[in-house]
Amino acid sequence: MQVRQVDVGDDAVLTQAHAVWVASRSFERPWNDAQSYGTWALERRFRDSGEDHEVWGAYDGDALVGFAMIWIPLHDNTSKIHTEIHVHPDHRRAGAGSALVQQVVDVARARSRSEIIGDLLAPADSTPEHPYRRFAAKHGFEEASQDSMRSLPLPVPTERLDELAELARGGWAGRYELATYLDGVPGHLQPSLCEASNLVDAEAPTGDIDFEPESLDPERYQAELQLERDQGTRRFTTVAVDPTTGQVVAYTDLVIAGGSTRSVWQWGTLVRAEHRGHRLGLAVKVENLRRLQAEHPTREFVVTGNADANAWMVAINETLGFRVREICPMYQRRV
Ligand SMILES: CC(C)(COP(=O)(O)OP(=O)(O)OC[C@H]1O[C@@H](n2cnc3c(N)ncnc32)[C@H](O)[C@@H]1OP(=O)(O)O)[C@@H](O)C(=O)NCCC(=O)NCCS
Repeated sequence: MQVRQVDVGDDAVLTQAHAVWVASRSFERPWNDAQSYGTWALERRFRDSGEDHEVWGAYDGDALVGFAMIWIPLHDNTSKIHTEIHVHPDHRRAGAGSALVQQVVDVARARSRSEIIGDLLAPADSTPEHPYRRFAAKHGFEEASQDSMRSLPLPVPTERLDELAELARGGWAGRYELATYLDGVPGHLQPSLCEASNLVDAEAPTGDIDFEPESLDPERYQAELQLERDQGTRRFTTVAVDPTTGQVVAYTDLVIAGGSTRSVWQWGTLVRAEHRGHRLGLAVKVENLRRLQAEHPTREFVVTGNADANAWMVAINETLGFRVREICPMYQRRV
């Protein structure tokens, strides 16, 4: 087994990596709704000024049988790197995963990083004996946070959305203004939207892992929006604005990945600390769902992940109808 860095400009190799990714993510997960090669390749090639991205392949002869994606934050959380490792189901238990972990450790050392963060998806009723969890444990990754992936069948009945919107309105009406934007918020809201988004990992419970606020700024945000336009990805953002300051105080994102056909991703949601307790979390989520359903009525489900300890967000999601489909434990290995 040889490990080499993947030249992300090389379609022949990247096509093999994409095939491994689809096979790995679809294994025992019939609901997987994979991105097309084109949109996935754009993501591998995207140059983010705030984060380096590398792809390393494990080769059996000329065939790429597994790969590791590595994200290396440059302006915040600089003690960490993030990774995701996949081995094709037909090539597991032959050492590819272990060789890739060793490579990730080497990258961490080369970049002077002391923590490797990763997560995995396993059945909701799985035990620590599940192969992926055994793999993580064998390689010194400690389960740092218990997270679950939930799924919400679409469409949510309009009457239910009306009822929840009305419930939320009792908390925020008269204090805030809500607005929904497709494919990015306007320029005047971008600085405060980025500030809110930077706080998600730092303020949400993340078990034994401490995240610093991130450093997304309008320039990087606009580059992400350009990537999404190139991919044919659609992003719905509902914000709550405090009219006295004109600043975003709460936001939520729903994303339809380009090339996917059935799924919608619920990305970050945050209410700034000093504006909590006015049902803004529920309000922005309901408004966003309403708009999404109106424009994409054939989508089948929304997926979201939360730490089990995040009682507030979990309660909102359960109220909306999300139910646990898998666990997604977050792991940390110290280097
Ligand atoms: C987890 C994964 C990367 C392992 O890849 P792999 O090439 O099979 O791993 P290895 O052959 O190097 O296995 C290393 C060790 O993991 C454990 N392990 C892996 N698969 C196992 C299985 N089916 N049953 C029991 N233990 C298993 C064993 O301890 C094994 O060592 P051993 O073979 O000496 O007993 C692969 O199953 C995969 O792609 N899973 C889906 C994605 C994922 O969960 N990635 C990990 C998180 S980023």
